[in-house]
Amino acid sequence: MYPVSIAIDGPAGAGKSTVARMVAKRLNFLYVDTGAMYRTVAYLCIAHSVDATNSQAIIQMLNQHDVTFQMSDDGFKALVDDVDVSVQLRDPKVSAHVSTVAAHHEVRSRLTTWQRTFAKTQSVVMDGRDIGTVVLPDATIKIFLTADVEERARRRQREFCKNGHDVPLEEIIQAVAERDARDSSREIAPLKAAGDAIQIDSTGKSAERVVDEILSLVEDAHVG
Ligand code: CDP
Ligand code: CDP
Repeated sequence: MYPVSIAIDGPAGAGKSTVARMVAKRLNFLYVDTGAMYRTVAYLCIAHSVDATNSQAIIQMLNQHDVTFQMSDDGFKALVDDVDVSVQLRDPKVSAHVSTVAAHHEVRSRLTTWQRTFAKTQSVVMDGRDIGTVVLPDATIKIFLTADVEERARRRQREFCKNGHDVPLEEIIQAVAERDARDSSREIAPLKAAGDAIQIDSTGKSAERVVDEILSLVEDAHVG
């Protein structure tokens, strides 16, 4: 039987990573966090003072480092020269740079090739912005997960709060909306729902409820 692929796309804070990880665990599929891959490139730009608008410099930088991704019980891990940088990827500085880095054709092409390799030999749940449209256009099931921007920002605010940072909601709404606008308006692989994606609005829903909705779609498709 061919590997099964579940693509989950949507804007920041819609709950993609949380539900993708839970669905993958329930089905015993590999979870691939493509946002973490773009964040790793943004993190490297910041760490090595590489201009995020210069695609050639970014590719040159990537060629100089050993970048690998691993799935573990703690989630999707990014290793740079054998050092786990996963925690640094959630830094607000990385969030502010990542959509600039992700707009370059050369960067996307390299990461897309990597992402497709994961899905070639094993069943995956992959989340991002262009999984159903570009990375895996033949994915078995495509979900476009949304939630209203205020709720998405509140979710992020709770995360910041857990980590001891008190950030005003308005500031988060603005940052999230700006990143969504950049992701949706870029020329290459913009954030948008695939024509055959199933839309799920997670506003007011727990992650568990969204997971159940996705698992019932998997059951209906007789692929799980
Ligand atoms: O977790 P959050 O929704 O905030 O973002 P993420 O999934 O970690 O993705 C970070 C950024 O990477 C996005 O805002 C996009 O700019 C970029 N990205 C992308 O362009 N294509 C993907 N398939 C995944 C992420
Ligand atoms: O990956 P994405 O940016 O779409 O969102 P996430 O990182 O999975 O979720 C952002 C936050 O919202 C996390 O702290 C989740 O626990 C929380 N969440 C939620 O409150 N309700 C949901 N239905 C899904 C996620």
